[in-house]
Amino acid sequence: MNREGNIVAIRYELIKECKDTNARLGRVYTPHGTIETPAFMPVGTQASVKAMSPDELKEIGSQIILSNTYHLYIRPGHKLIEDFGGLHGFMNWDIPILTDSGGFQVFSLNELRKISEEGVEFKSHLDGSKHFFTPEFVMEIEESLGADIIMAFDECIPYPCEKDYARKSMERTVRWLKRCKKAHTKTDKQALFGIVQGGTFKDLRIESAKMTVDVDLPGYAVGGLSVGESKEEMYEVLEYTVPLLPKDKPRYLMGVGSPDSLIDGVIRGIDMFDCVLPTRIARNGTVMTSKGKLVVRNAEYARDSLPLDENCDCYACRNFSRAYIRHLIKAGEILGARLTTIHNLRFLQNLMKNIRDAIKEDRLLNFRKDFFDSYGYEK
Ligand code: GUN
Ligand code: ZN
Repeated sequence: MNREGNIVAIRYELIKECKDTNARLGRVYTPHGTIETPAFMPVGTQASVKAMSPDELKEIGSQIILSNTYHLYIRPGHKLIEDFGGLHGFMNWDIPILTDSGGFQVFSLNELRKISEEGVEFKSHLDGSKHFFTPEFVMEIEESLGADIIMAFDECIPYPCEKDYARKSMERTVRWLKRCKKAHTKTDKQALFGIVQGGTFKDLRIESAKMTVDVDLPGYAVGGLSVGESKEEMYEVLEYTVPLLPKDKPRYLMGVGSPDSLIDGVIRGIDMFDCVLPTRIARNGTVMTSKGKLVVRNAEYARDSLPLDENCDCYACRNFSRAYIRHLIKAGEILGARLTTIHNLRFLQNLMKNIRDAIKEDRLLNFRKDFFDSYGYEK
């Protein structure tokens, strides 16, 4: 139950706090199952994690996936998906789903959008048709999609951004959040998360965090990061923002998923992450390995009989050579993209498991050092 006595859809259990950092080990209980945190969520923008079947995602170890309101509203339409039992029924995916609100996608349509207090008018990237998102309408769409966790409609500002605009936008995002909360009815089945904004301005972030937490929601996200600022700036924002978020709720850093940022985000108190990076680079023939990034499409792997990563237990690494996977990618064979995607997602799920074990065993900073040394990161 929340402060107002309503039954809530999810519950966060804090299992252990790291002694040396702000990292936490926990679990998020949702209507479709439990997520062990810190967790990485693969992105399935169009109700599919590109090239992966639900069974494959489960075998990889994914406990939750993310999908997108904007794309699914444009095609095939949220009402159609609702008629198929929401995203869970439509995709035949019986474990947790989170939907992003379109607050990122709509704002990336630079030329094609117009923002007002009421909402955002935008043109479809598919056919140029006009649409209008308000916080109320986004809640209606997300309720039709039926995800376990739904994100509030926010504005993700670009980087760099004038402070005056960053303030105006951040304050409007808080007003939109209140409208989202009011419009969201299925609080027993879906958990609404608020999103902290404010760019890289410390005072704006602090105000945003306080006002967002005041709305009293089952979880909170930090948005507006990984949009062009340096990693140092991103970590600084996390250092003064995350401590303002309640300890008994999950904290989600949106759009971040490089191995170093996952570790350094966890160290700053983040529980959940999502990013298109592992799946996107996989399709171009780049994989993450315990010894760093490997561009398997490069000529040097043409006769390489090793697996993508000798320390990986994924289907691709158990069965195929770099030479074969390189050939598939070069030849444009679908199997190539499938194998590199399986591998990258498994790599990140293994990384998150190793992070959780390291928190459990009080050796997160040692784990970080070893991982960075082996991956080839500085520091
Ligand atoms: N994905 C990455 N960043 C953001 C953000 O700031 N807002 C939303 N809604 N989604 C995101
Ligand atoms: Zn592998």
